[in-house]
Amino acid sequence: MTMTTYARRRAAVLAKMHAQGRGIAIIQTAPEVMRNADADYPYRHDSYFYYLTGFSEPEATLVLIAGAKDQSILFCREKNEEREIWDGFRFGPAAAKEQFHFDAAYATDSIDSELPRLMANAPALFYALGSSATLDARIQGWLNTVRTQVRAGVTAPNVAIDVRVILNEMRLIKDADEIATMRRAADISSEAHARAMRTSRAGLREYHLEAELLHEFRRHGSQAPAYGSIVAAGANACVLHYRAGDTELHDGDLVLIDAGCELDSYASDITRTFPVNGKFSGPQKTLYEIVLAAQQAAIDVTRAGTRFTDGHDAALKVLAQGMLDTGLLDKNKVGTLDDVIINGHYRQFYMHRTGHWLGMDVHDVGEYRDPEPVGQDKPWRTLKPGMVLTVEPGIYVRPAAGVPEAYWNIGIRIEDDALVTEGACEILTHKAPKTVAEIEAVMAS
Ligand code: GLY
Ligand code: MN
Ligand code: MN
Repeated sequence: MTMTTYARRRAAVLAKMHAQGRGIAIIQTAPEVMRNADADYPYRHDSYFYYLTGFSEPEATLVLIAGAKDQSILFCREKNEEREIWDGFRFGPAAAKEQFHFDAAYATDSIDSELPRLMANAPALFYALGSSATLDARIQGWLNTVRTQVRAGVTAPNVAIDVRVILNEMRLIKDADEIATMRRAADISSEAHARAMRTSRAGLREYHLEAELLHEFRRHGSQAPAYGSIVAAGANACVLHYRAGDTELHDGDLVLIDAGCELDSYASDITRTFPVNGKFSGPQKTLYEIVLAAQQAAIDVTRAGTRFTDGHDAALKVLAQGMLDTGLLDKNKVGTLDDVIINGHYRQFYMHRTGHWLGMDVHDVGEYRDPEPVGQDKPWRTLKPGMVLTVEPGIYVRPAAGVPEAYWNIGIRIEDDALVTEGACEILTHKAPKTVAEIEAVMAS
């Protein structure tokens, strides 16, 4: 991403602020969080802040002013030789202003004196309403300082607008630079899944496969996993939010891996399910083919002009039919395919939705309903070129009376990342082995 990309995005936000009556926007980056004693969690900037700045130091705030003259202002940490010896380089306001193309930059320490001045006479205040008690309190303080000048003819903002509404719409449509980064993140994660498949054998533990994933992510320059990796052997796959643990991989079991790297602030999100020993058993293959067909049905309707939920509906039909065909659901008890869908019987084995937006955050921002018509029930989002979403159907069979025992404890999910285009969607994660034949071939090699 070049600095002009960030400047262009700030200009787009300013244009939207003009359209909504002008004012001042305040966007803070994420706080540093202590893990224990003197050890912090690895620092990760706030996605909104980074989207508009490319600036990854903590304790920074972006201020945008849409007025007679537009301004982009950064507050950041001062240079500090002592702290830089311990913690590393800081740009400081002067260098940050030049290198990141801001109109002005000030020290974060001066924010309480500068903000009331910048807020004075701004008609509207744009910020992430109610997202942080600390920010809410600071804004209250700055507003009250502005209000003390009322007899001098100064007015305080009297309209509050959630700046995320503007930013969410922008982030929902990925530009060419973002798509290029997401393609690279997807490639790395695909390679990591293939590596875990090649490593798998009975006797290893879940954390051994997690180590292979992390090794592959990091050696390609990924900064971190985009979310906690799920490596779930055998029955653990039926626990949706299971994390990689120390369960042993057993011959004859499946292992479900849901893991993706974050690269340069963009997430990838892949799930693959494969046999520990490299060969699917009959019942495993039967369920796997159903999930794979469900995913293909969803992928087939993932293109510009369809609705966000069309993929879920398409996958659900295939999954539910598969549940009837295999006897997971008893026709004599639950009725027809339509009955299964209307009455939600499928939820015993499929209890989540088929996808979500993907971008800087793994569950990325963006409304799931169309912005229009305002004031009525809005239809589900119409897909547009540049949107990226996951397609991730699954089947999870917990032991239960009436469920054929051959399928007990099988949990399968298949997840890819799809870029919406005018035609067939582009599967960013296409390099991760997926069909039974592909997986068995990779694991045999
Ligand atoms: N890994 C989180 C998800 O699939 O949504
Ligand atoms: Mn996932
Ligand atoms: Mn996902």
